[in-house]
Amino acid sequence: RPRVLSGIQPTADSFHLGNYLGAVRNWVAMQETHDAFYCVVDLHAITMGHDPIALRNRTRISAAQLLALGLDPERCTLFVQSHVPEHAQLSWVLSCITGFGEASRMVQFKDKSAKAGQDSTTVGLFTYPILQAADILLYQADQVPVGEDQRQHLELTRDLAQRFNSRFGPAYTIPSAYIVKDTAKITDLQDPTIKMSKSASSPNGIIELLDDPARSAKKIKSAVTDTGREILYDEVNKPGISNLLTIYAALTMRTIDELLEQYDGRGYGDLKKDLSEVLMEFVRPIQERTKGYLDDKAQLDKILAVGAEKARAVASVTLAKTYKNVGFISPA
Ligand code: TYM
Repeated sequence: RPRVLSGIQPTADSFHLGNYLGAVRNWVAMQETHDAFYCVVDLHAITMGHDPIALRNRTRISAAQLLALGLDPERCTLFVQSHVPEHAQLSWVLSCITGFGEASRMVQFKDKSAKAGQDSTTVGLFTYPILQAADILLYQADQVPVGEDQRQHLELTRDLAQRFNSRFGPAYTIPSAYIVKDTAKITDLQDPTIKMSKSASSPNGIIELLDDPARSAKKIKSAVTDTGREILYDEVNKPGISNLLTIYAALTMRTIDELLEQYDGRGYGDLKKDLSEVLMEFVRPIQERTKGYLDDKAQLDKILAVGAEKARAVASVTLAKTYKNVGFISPA
């Protein structure tokens, strides 16, 4: 079985629809076909300034949501990044083969640091993609299911793996990004030219899975649509409607063509009304299951402990190989 690894940050009280459709949905599918490792990346979540109590809650909420969305600890390894110390350890070694200029070219760093300003930008934010590379390479992942916004970080990961392998001898599988085009960039409901994002979207632009379903339905109904009244899939001229069609198709497992046929001759209002109902039906059981997992914290922590142990068994082998190749002597 090919190996897969991916991660998600515990930086909000709920995942949003982009996280689910762009990434987690594929994680769930891939646990059936791959040897799958998924982690809640709490080390990454402290790069922008954070509150410890919120982080603690959000780490558990993230894990509970992943289980509610369909990850099965019998079929995949689900763990918390900080439980596996090898991530930080490998990150250091990789940071020593990463060029300063190379890291400076990361678009996400440039965006986030520009927004934060120089005094609030941490060195951790700068080295963030190197830690992400460590996450991936530790598990010898063949594929990494992510949204479009992670493509550049995946390119860096591949470059670092190749560089290490050729400089110090083979240690890592070269991973590929696994990006499903249709859902790789779910856009903001109020501004369909930008991606739906926890940091950039306005409250009405983002659908949070754990939000009150009625409120989410309202957001769908007030989504910005386009001029004209025909329901067509056209990302350039009708980005708002196209985004709603993408979400609708993904949540109902139907094709865009089927939807276009169903809504032929009907108006934006019909589409929005139906999608808002689909969405409410989708989130309700997820919210219940998430709550169920959070109600039994001991059980949740147990699942994560088992996951960490399975993850460590793999990560420690890669770290040992790395240390050996790089020239560290092992302790007597
Ligand atoms: P994060 O936590 O920001 O997002 C988690 C996943 O959701 C995807 N995503 C989207 N997909 C489609 N449309 C959107 N609007 C949208 N918004 C977010 C992201 O692409 C991501 O796949 N750096 C990563 C976390 C990470 C990681 C890793 C990922 C750390 N280590 C190792 C893969 C492998 C991040 O910030 O994800």
